[in-house]
Order: sequence, then structure tokens, then C-alpha cells
Amino acid sequence: MDYNKQSLIEAAFQVQKNAYAPYSGFYVGAALLSEDGTIFTGANVENSSFPVGVCAERSAFAAAISHGHRKFIAMCITGKRQNNPLIGSDYCMPCGMCRQFMTEFCDQSFEIISARTPEDYQVYRLDTLMPGAFLMTGFF
Ligand code: THU
Repeated sequence: MDYNKQSLIEAAFQVQKNAYAPYSGFYVGAALLSEDGTIFTGANVENSSFPVGVCAERSAFAAAISHGHRKFIAMCITGKRQNNPLIGSDYCMPCGMCRQFMTEFCDQSFEIISARTPEDYQVYRLDTLMPGAFLMTGFF
């Protein structure tokens, strides 16, 4: 599937600026491309009660699904620890919970772009990041 990676990367960097991460200081942005070309974005939103916080990836998926979208092509993730160039300066990868969340809505060919800069990024397929994923096949 051909799509504009650069606009997805740009959207992730933009929304990363809105991350609410006063506890970890780790700012994450995610931009999700729907099958119809719409881009939905999300940032991580932390909470005083730490487990209540939500990752950027699931924020973006929740926004898209809330607007009636169900099929997706790719997601770009950007993440950086503020004020510390040594921590979190590498490619930001989705956590296990987010990988499971993606599995619910995405084909194995869904692409995850992890971008350090608009020019420096890696692309993964979901089936390489989440092999043998759990699904309630045949449930419906
Ligand atoms: N976080 C994300 O938003 N996405 C990831 O892929 C990794 C982790 C957030 C959760 C928390 O707010 C902060 O980064 C540190 O774990």
C-alpha cells in the first residue's frame, strides 16, 4: 500500500507537542492513517495515579474509532524524553499493550513508522512486532 509517510511523520511530531507527561517527562506523539486517507493523532496523557495514563498510540486509535473509522494503513510514532538527550533519544517503539490494541483493528501488513526525525525513521510491519497475537477468532 502506497501512502505519504512524510505527512504522517509530520503529524506525529506536531501532536507530540501536546503530550501531557509531567511524571515521566517522556513525550510521545502518534499519527494514524485511516484507509480513506484521514489522519488521526494522539499524544500520551499521564495521570497522578500512574496506571490511569494512556499512551499516544491508543489515544490516536480511540480518536479514529470514535469517528467511525475501522480500517487502518499505518501509524507513525515519535517519542522523546525532554531535557535529557541520553534517555529516549532512540526510536520509540509501541508498548505491548498498544501492540495488542493495534491487533484488534489492523491487518498483519499494518505499518509502524518509528521516527527520530522527519528524515530518520524505521518501518516495521505489525506481524513482526506482534507475532502470534491473541484474537478471539470465530467469536463473532
Ligand atoms: N508511552 C507512549 O505513549 N507510547 C509508547 O509507545 C511508549 C510509552 C508513554 C506512556 C507514558 O506516558 C510515557 O510514555 C512513559 O512510559
